[in-house]
Amino acid sequence: MKIKHFLFPAFMSLSLAWTACSSDDDTDAGTENTEENEDNSETEVTAASGYDADYESQGFFSKTTNVVVTAPPHERVRIFYSDDLTDLIDLSTFTAPVGATAIKEAYDEEGNIANILVMTKQEAGYDSANGDWYYEMRSADGTEVMNDGKIEMCINCHTAAAAKDYLPGTQITDQ
Ligand code: HEC
Repeated sequence: MKIKHFLFPAFMSLSLAWTACSSDDDTDAGTENTEENEDNSETEVTAASGYDADYESQGFFSKTTNVVVTAPPHERVRIFYSDDLTDLIDLSTFTAPVGATAIKEAYDEEGNIANILVMTKQEAGYDSANGDWYYEMRSADGTEVMNDGKIEMCINCHTAAAAKDYLPGTQITDQ
């Protein structure tokens, strides 16, 4: 009985320490995770996608009217930018206005669109550490959103183009 009494508090405090520790972890990683999760589930509601099925004909311009072959993993692409980026696109450093949208058609080797990638600039605070971009991966016909939000995989690579507000393809042209 005495031993039990002795062991119990010891165990309790251990488990308390562990709980405290793990909930600390949860909070630390969790501030991001929870935010991310919340934002991800809210993302579809709160983050505004600038994707427009008519991007080829209105509201957007392109410097790649034909499919351009770029460095892997984005090998065959056409890129469209919303008109509000017209004056910025050729600068070596700029900040896109809220709502600015880039759409990339990624083609397979047969020359068919494999998927459509979208980035839309959100209000400051959406993801301040990464330029407040909302990322989207859509099906080839653009109708289905396969993945969206602050997609880490996209962010990790696009960070390399932070000077041009995370838009790596602005210099690509077929003209
Ligand atoms: C391995 C690096 C890498 C990853 C991962 C990546 N991108 Fe990109 N992205 C690029 C590069 C480089 C370009 C420039 C065009 C090219 O080379 O295809 C680009 C171009 C784009 C563009 C056209 C706008 C512009 O100025 O280039 C969009 C939109 C885009 N990516 C969206 C996405 C989305 C959405 C994801 C995640 C699902 C993603 N990217 C993942 C490297 C990456």
